[in-house]
Amino acid sequence: MAEYSIEVRNLTKAFGNFVAVRNINFNVARGEIVGFLGANGAGKSTTIRMLCGLLSPTAGTAIVAGYDVVREPERIKERIGYMSQKFSLYEDITVEENIRFYGGIYGLSGRSLSARLRWALELNRLGGKERVLTGELPVGWKQRLALSCALLHEPKIVFLDEPTGGVDPLSRRKFWELINDLAAAGVTVLVTTHYLDEAEYCHRILLIHAGELVASGGPEELKTTFVRHPILEVECEQTGEALAMLQEEDWVLASEVYGAYLHVQVADEEEGRAKISRLLKGRGLVLKRIDTIRPRLEHVFTQLIEKTERLERASG
Ligand SMILES: Nc1ncnc2c1ncn2[C@@H]1O[C@H](COP(=O)(O)OP(=O)(O)OP(=O)(O)O)[C@@H](O)[C@H]1O
Ligand SMILES: [Mg+2]
Repeated sequence: MAEYSIEVRNLTKAFGNFVAVRNINFNVARGEIVGFLGANGAGKSTTIRMLCGLLSPTAGTAIVAGYDVVREPERIKERIGYMSQKFSLYEDITVEENIRFYGGIYGLSGRSLSARLRWALELNRLGGKERVLTGELPVGWKQRLALSCALLHEPKIVFLDEPTGGVDPLSRRKFWELINDLAAAGVTVLVTTHYLDEAEYCHRILLIHAGELVASGGPEELKTTFVRHPILEVECEQTGEALAMLQEEDWVLASEVYGAYLHVQVADEEEGRAKISRLLKGRGLVLKRIDTIRPRLEHVFTQLIEKTERLERASG
């Protein structure tokens, strides 16, 4: 049995002259939940489509469920579940018809299809709603149903491309409970999301920026690796002016607006507090409080992306 569910080797995809995914490498263990994060256009969907055998790489390869995406993409398609970004349920047919349709695509019929139909209905608490038109379900339900449809053939690896886009927080939570149950049962999950609170649920995060993998690690690991300085949350009545002033100071290592507050990184916590207080009050601003806060993934990402962009500018 292969050590990893997914092994990615120098995977590259170019569209004409434009390189959407550049030479990326990573492995995913069985039962691992890996979150694939990056800005719009970073290359997440392109990578996932290559790993699902739907798009052929320009260079490099990947082994998924023991098969090579370049040489045996058809084998892979039978063994994985895939929920695409514009999830793919038919709105104008009933819940049951959708489940039967996807079951058919995955080669289920007869008793095994009936059993999986019951499983999907039960999982989604859709018993009694078999004949409801899919388009009439709330978005959160549709997305859980779409996930079940991708799981009808009991794949050991699932690729979920922004499965919770546009879904309310409670439904997202329920969706993640399902993902956790899957992983606990040994299913490997690769999931993209733009929600950083969701990334916290992942065992490991891969950050992709402009087609390149720039960081990989568990949520806590990334925070300790990339956020090395204390972060002070500053509440000041004149947020914008305060930010402009802080950015002029060389002892301010990083400063940003987060909601109504400023997050300021400094070398030393106590000294930083004193300096911020002196600066803002000295210039007549109304400082309400300064608190030390724990690093969040947001800090990791803004920091990493800024660093990557600085390096890019420096190299030409
Ligand atoms: N078939 C294609 N032809 C040309 N360019 C493409 C094609 N598919 C994707 N791209 C480009 O490749 C880049 C990566 O796209 P991709 O869809 O992988 O990004 P993404 O990380 O999934 O973004 P999003 O968060 O918006 O879904 C984008 O600049 C996109 O415009
Ligand atoms: Mg995408």
